[in-house]
Amino acid sequence: MGKKITDNVTWVGKVDWELQLFHGQELSTHRGSSYNAYLIRDGKNVLIDTVWQPFDREFVSRLKEEIDLKDIDYVVMNHNEIDHSGALPELMREIPDTPIYCTANGKKIIEGHYHQDWNFHVVGLGDKLETGKGTLTFIPAPFCHWPDTMFTYYDAEGILFSNDGFGQHYATESLFNDKNLSEEIYTEAKKYYCNILNLYGSNVKKAIDTVVGLNVPLSMICPSHGVIWRDNPMQIVETYLKWANDYQENQVTLIYDTMWNSTRKMAEAIAEGIRQETPDTVIKIMEAGKQDKNDILTEVFNSKAILMGCPTINQGLSYAIGGLLEMMKGLKFKKKKAAAFGSYGWAPQGLKKLTAGLTDCGFEIVMDGKTCQWVPDEEALHACIEYGREFAKAL
Ligand code: FEO
Repeated sequence: MGKKITDNVTWVGKVDWELQLFHGQELSTHRGSSYNAYLIRDGKNVLIDTVWQPFDREFVSRLKEEIDLKDIDYVVMNHNEIDHSGALPELMREIPDTPIYCTANGKKIIEGHYHQDWNFHVVGLGDKLETGKGTLTFIPAPFCHWPDTMFTYYDAEGILFSNDGFGQHYATESLFNDKNLSEEIYTEAKKYYCNILNLYGSNVKKAIDTVVGLNVPLSMICPSHGVIWRDNPMQIVETYLKWANDYQENQVTLIYDTMWNSTRKMAEAIAEGIRQETPDTVIKIMEAGKQDKNDILTEVFNSKAILMGCPTINQGLSYAIGGLLEMMKGLKFKKKKAAAFGSYGWAPQGLKKLTAGLTDCGFEIVMDGKTCQWVPDEEALHACIEYGREFAKAL
């Protein structure tokens, strides 16, 4: 059965407690996720989004417990990545003529995924759909997350259906933000923003400006993942604006890989130098090959600067450091500083590649890299502490 969230709206999604990875292997989801879909009944019956394909039959069968599918007047698809559109084929097999409201890009994406000639109604900014007592207003929000993404505002109850925007990969049976631990929700919301939306920060700001410009009451934000923002829904909008504005805290993160602990020892000594110079700076040290890549990226998001360390391996970098560089390049962090370090045996080619990689990611390199041949002795570790002090002064 669905969960009634207001007089007119029922949650009809799927909570996925088991999900550990999302986007293939790209994104860890330590607290599972949910695929939120909503059913509005206020004269007309409107389904907002569906769920991920593996749950398509369960979704349709549970939807039938709520409503005779033939009574669904409209389907609104805010975004058509498979985690939201995956159950469309199963649903549309039963109601093939029901109109689907989506953006022009949404239509292309649905067609590209499912190769069906469904009854599409393409909508743009400000287009409206009467639902009975209320009206839906469509607000395209391109690249929050894909080019097709839109928000839908329901005026009768002041609800913004925001799809990926303001979402979190967070499984819960208690749908509302005030019924869950705020710290957990914000941890997951930040990780979601950093790993999925950070590169689209300017689009996020534009979408928020458009919503705020509508000057309409907002009682609730219903995203497609995680909790519904019922208690002070503007709190997540304000937080998004902060995140979208080149976010950083007084934090330095050292990310290293190591084969025989030399680069690890360098990382710890450099961190000690930063601590000595700026004791109030939060310092985190993360092992690239062992710790979760998306948690590392979230710490980069939190940081004003990073130091990345890698021993020279086969005249280059380790796969973990190489992979993180590729991910950081894609996420387009801005206004962050960096430097590189690492041990080597007979030639320090890795350091050059690492510095070039950080530059390519958009970091401002504030110091030449620090190397150490073979295993650092006391003198070399002291030099690393000094390097950390100089790095802290350069920030
Ligand atoms: Fe939750 Fe971009 O899909």
